[in-house]
Amino acid sequence: MATPSPEDLLREGRAAVEAAATSAELDDARVAVIGRSAPVVLALRGVGGLPPEERGPTGQRLNGVRRELEALIDERSAALAAEELEARLAADRVDVTLPPPVVPHGGLHPLTQTRREIEDIFIGLGYAIAEGPEIDTEYNSFTALNIPEGHPAKDETDTLWLRPGVLLRPHTSPVQVRVMASQPPPVYVICPGRVFRRDTPDATHSPIFQQIEGLAVDRGLTLADLKGTLRHMARALFGDRLDVRLRSGFFPFTEPSVEVDVECPFCATGCSVCKHTRWIEILGSGMVDPNVLSLHEGYDPEEWTGFAFGLGIERIAMLRHDVHDIRAFYDNDLRFLEQFPS
Ligand code: PHE
Repeated sequence: MATPSPEDLLREGRAAVEAAATSAELDDARVAVIGRSAPVVLALRGVGGLPPEERGPTGQRLNGVRRELEALIDERSAALAAEELEARLAADRVDVTLPPPVVPHGGLHPLTQTRREIEDIFIGLGYAIAEGPEIDTEYNSFTALNIPEGHPAKDETDTLWLRPGVLLRPHTSPVQVRVMASQPPPVYVICPGRVFRRDTPDATHSPIFQQIEGLAVDRGLTLADLKGTLRHMARALFGDRLDVRLRSGFFPFTEPSVEVDVECPFCATGCSVCKHTRWIEILGSGMVDPNVLSLHEGYDPEEWTGFAFGLGIERIAMLRHDVHDIRAFYDNDLRFLEQFPS
């Protein structure tokens, strides 16, 4: 193979430098054109083997070629760097006169909105909010509430037991027990929170849902106080002129126990929501059983009486917003949630 002439080396080197379209490509070209094994460098290394009279002139010409290639590379490098900077600046340009990007507003979940509304109603009546753990003891959840051994709520098939004596609370009533265990009467508290039951999800059941329970203990409280309080709440939630009615019911921790219905806010003559009865059941309640009071120091049932109630937040929200499937609250579908701006 004929040794390339210095002119060939210059031409080929220049072509390689000019072909580099980016700084990275130019780095590769630099190695190929003037790196340790570049043709011009190898040729320079071979000068020592030439006849003495050729060494000087050939060495000079090859050195000239290498310097020229170096200069070409520097020039190209500066040009590419400038181009690339230009492109980056164009891409990064911020137009400070543009309106800011729209940040979508989050909103409160409809259940949170309903919970807060109910809390506000009771805060307005002088109640305090009490919270407790979602995992509680059998004693707080059942025993202290006068719930007998064989009661179905205690069954494996109804309640989520973590180990004997410890469970995911099936209602927020244990918070009321905790309140009575920690402070003397009078007591006016509501207990909002998540509760857990072994239910298969369907349109009206969810194994996790939210309750607000309430407890009032004072001297001389009667069923009339319970009815007035719950009517106040029902009217605040559903409409000013609606009445409530009490139907007899049963809970182990209240005596007497009553189911509370509110007049149907949606119709005058019967509709599908009230199942053509004109009344809608909204909660369970009753006068606190003396057995429940007498477990706590300072709660002598001869001196103090109380009432308690418990409602499901989902049920209230479903009624108010005409939602027909409880699962809609837990699906996190924005098309649903966005209909409840807060
Ligand atoms: N703890 C009852 C439940 O979860 C509700 C309730 C509370 C009923 C207080 C009466 C009095 O079903």
